[in-house]
Amino acid sequence: MDAVAPLPCQRHLFEVPDEISYLDAAAWSPFPLSVRAAGEAGLLVKSRPWAHPREAVQAQAERARAAAARLIGATADDVAIVGSVSHAMATVAANLAVAPGGRVLRVADEFPSLCYAFDRLARASGLIVEEVPRPEDGDWTASLLAAIGRPGAPPLTIATLTPSHWTDGGLIDLDRLAPAVHAAGAALVIDATQAAGAVPVDVGRWRPDFLAFPTYKWALGPYALAFLYAAPHRQDGAAIEENIGNRPPATGARRYDRGELNDPVLLPMAATGLELLLSFDVSAVADRLRRLTDLLADGLVGLGLSALAADLRAPNILGLRAPGGLSPGLVDRLRQDGVYVSERSGALRLSPHVWADERDVERCVAALRRAL
Ligand SMILES: Cc1ncc(COP(=O)(O)O)c(C=O)c1O
Repeated sequence: MDAVAPLPCQRHLFEVPDEISYLDAAAWSPFPLSVRAAGEAGLLVKSRPWAHPREAVQAQAERARAAAARLIGATADDVAIVGSVSHAMATVAANLAVAPGGRVLRVADEFPSLCYAFDRLARASGLIVEEVPRPEDGDWTASLLAAIGRPGAPPLTIATLTPSHWTDGGLIDLDRLAPAVHAAGAALVIDATQAAGAVPVDVGRWRPDFLAFPTYKWALGPYALAFLYAAPHRQDGAAIEENIGNRPPATGARRYDRGELNDPVLLPMAATGLELLLSFDVSAVADRLRRLTDLLADGLVGLGLSALAADLRAPNILGLRAPGGLSPGLVDRLRQDGVYVSERSGALRLSPHVWADERDVERCVAALRRAL
């Protein structure tokens, strides 16, 4: 395979000040200037509707849908526009017909938006929910493969998986897991929130039944907008909020579109963020983020923090743990030094995106040395 050309830092496209190291894309990302401009233009449309043709907003929905589809290797007809990942997952759970007695499989400490709808489905349909515990050796993929194939276990009905653990970037290798889920005859539901826009996501490779991601993190867009890919054989269901846009004659994944779809603010913002990402090669984004998270991991050696080995973590998120837990107030102390990160489930989560560079790594390492 040809090596991808390195992606330079894209800070000039954002308004992140020089003295701020914003390493919290896994929580929410700043808008690129172009996305902000698209939102401001959208506000004007709704302020003066007489001056703007309403049909133009429908075109923005299709523009956003097409860009989201390209980002995940899908066609636009297979992508619905929804309001959040939890909205997507409620739709998925409402449209999976399951026989009782099987298992829903997921990792422990999974993000709630990927749990509640399936907990409800399991209760209503007589399924067992199995949570694979956090592996001591950090190898989620091996633990999940073992759980999928465990002799004597109830049949696997649904696997709800993500490409990495949202708390610390622990790799969940879907290239290896997706074939095992398919071989077990189970439905594969993927939450690509912490991947789409940062690392390659390809529905052709993983063949999920459903896959969802929002725009407000790695996809550089607004809140209140997410996309739901539905495989062609999963498009005959119904939305949880039936409305004039998603009833017949709507076909394909548009059957799951949200109500009040034609928002002149959110749609052009989402499309602009997605198109910006598409103008890069997402593999080059992943390579860049891998280099930055590796540099962070190297720079922090000797501070009493541990990270997963490079081959057991995603390129875009570095989780750091301390033996007795993180020092209280650490996130606030770093913030006072201009370094923005999060703590999730006991891990200090560092998540740079395309605006970050080596200076941010140096500032973060220096701030952590001071703080600890
Ligand atoms: C793995 C994962 N899924 C989903 C979400 C967002 O879910 P929702 O769109 O339902 O708020 C997050 C947010 O942090 C997340 O980390």
